[in-house]
Amino acid sequence: MPQAVVIIGVQWGDEGKGKIVDYYTSAADIVARFQGGNNAGHTLVVEGKKTILHLIPSGILHPHAKCFIGSGVVVDPENFLEEVSILREAGIQDLENRIYLSDRCHLIVDYHKHLDAARENKKSGKLGTTKRGIGPAYEDRASRRGLRVADLFNEKVFEEKLKENLAEKNFLLKEYYGVSPVSMESFMTKYQGIAKQLKPFIRDVSAELFQSIEEGKKILYEGAQGVLLDVDYGTYPYVTSSQTLPSQAALGLGARVPKDTLFIGVIKAYSTRVGEGPFPTELTDAFGDELRESGSEYGATTGRPRRCGWLDLVAVKYALQVSGIKNLAITKADVLSGLFELKVCTAYEYQGNRLHTIPADSSILAKVTPIYETLPGWSEDLTAIRNINEIPKNLQNYLKFIEEFTGARINLISTGAGREAVIDIQKAF
Ligand code: IMP
Repeated sequence: MPQAVVIIGVQWGDEGKGKIVDYYTSAADIVARFQGGNNAGHTLVVEGKKTILHLIPSGILHPHAKCFIGSGVVVDPENFLEEVSILREAGIQDLENRIYLSDRCHLIVDYHKHLDAARENKKSGKLGTTKRGIGPAYEDRASRRGLRVADLFNEKVFEEKLKENLAEKNFLLKEYYGVSPVSMESFMTKYQGIAKQLKPFIRDVSAELFQSIEEGKKILYEGAQGVLLDVDYGTYPYVTSSQTLPSQAALGLGARVPKDTLFIGVIKAYSTRVGEGPFPTELTDAFGDELRESGSEYGATTGRPRRCGWLDLVAVKYALQVSGIKNLAITKADVLSGLFELKVCTAYEYQGNRLHTIPADSSILAKVTPIYETLPGWSEDLTAIRNINEIPKNLQNYLKFIEEFTGARINLISTGAGREAVIDIQKAF
């Protein structure tokens, strides 16, 4: 039994990680986030009730679990406090002792959100971001202009940094993007109030996690987005601004992962992508629309319709290669029930040549033609199945094909939206 499990998406995000994290949380003491921000969105269905969280780990819905937000996460404090109040209203108790927010997290503040939106609203260079200010906040971190959680409690430093930042950002907002600037006064008052409300949640997350690992506590690391949205290894520039690979779990929390850690990549049984960027297996026809409807493929964060397509095993295999993942959890196979046959992409064709991996140049990926293998479908309803031997034969073949093509092993199959709809082939905890 491993001491820890790291869960990451191995497509373009939205693989259904929230559900898998929720499943493993029943055996974990701590659920920790290490990258991204409130661009993520986890939809959880517990006892028929839907909860969507963007920043606070979904593990908070399990009363025994503590939730850590590491320094690699960019935090919009207003969103954080909003989620705290949603959780309080839902009757979830003792949040101050269960949510640990790192004092080293970078803050997403108003001008980040304004800049993100202003860039997206420009005619050219659109990436289809969530407009949550994620990119601009990570930019400030790298350029050492960022405001961190700890700065909220040093009024002088906060004000000085803010003054400098506002001068630059307002110049950009007003002169370059032609939108309204942000006022300094309203800013200071607002963030003084926010600091007070955040205080009970702030901890030295690195030290707390280090100690917990030493004590043998079980840790679940919750990745956001997916490998193909990683800032270096994703389909750049159509990516998010953080590192989404499992190695980020240690960096974004400031503590090594336990020696005995299982890394699980989550894949959806087909592919989706939201926002701009190349998507070789995209279905732009009526079947793509059908898949969107039957899979409820609308963004949990922005409500945008997700682009849908066949499973792209070239992309998955590449994602497994760069992330070092050998174990998979597969979601939404139930959505494919009822199809006579299914296609999976096993290579790309580009200018008469076969490609077997994701090229660094996204403009090439945008022009490839997918080469498909056709597999027989299944028609049975999967939702009630809990035993691997009871799944339809053609689904077994589909899963076997994925395992053989990628060299990874499928540990877990999610067969529906509910918490209990899971076939656990190899218990992780
Ligand atoms: P950003 O992270 O808001 O900067 O958006 C950059 C790209 O990542 C856009 O294509 C977004 O749609 C995508 N993205 C960000 N977060 C998620 C997510 O949680 N799921 C799926 N796509 C995401």
